Amino acid sequence: MPWGDIMIGRINHVAIAVPDVEAAARQWETGLCAVCSLPQSLPDHGVRVVFVDQPNAKVELMEPLGGNSPIAAFLDRNPAGGMHHICYEVADIRAARDHLVASGARVLGDGEPMSGAHGTPVLFLHPKDFYGTLIELEEVRD
Ligand code: CO
Repeated sequence: MPWGDIMIGRINHVAIAVPDVEAAARQWETGLCAVCSLPQSLPDHGVRVVFVDQPNAKVELMEPLGGNSPIAAFLDRNPAGGMHHICYEVADIRAARDHLVASGARVLGDGEPMSGAHGTPVLFLHPKDFYGTLIELEEVRD
């Protein structure tokens, strides 16, 4: 396995949990003069999101959607919002997972990639293994 398939690539997005995604988008637009998408509901993922497009990566503003949102507990602990995760691109997510597990890192869930917010395979790594940072890996093939 060449290192290139395992190594993390560019940052795909940084996700920020917010209590009100419209208010957050206005703040990014008025304060940072950012270009924001319209809010999109992703019921399968329990979030409403606004994508902030940058030349080098995206910022995703996420508001909980529905009673079972995976970010509800985070917002309970951080009611004003906060950085939720950082997403790195990898070329081969299963090879990256196998390498991480062999190195002692913990993969959340059953360890099998699931379909992420962009329809591509994703995995999340235990934040305790990365200094309190929740890391998402997303398989992006070019
Ligand atoms: Co993400």
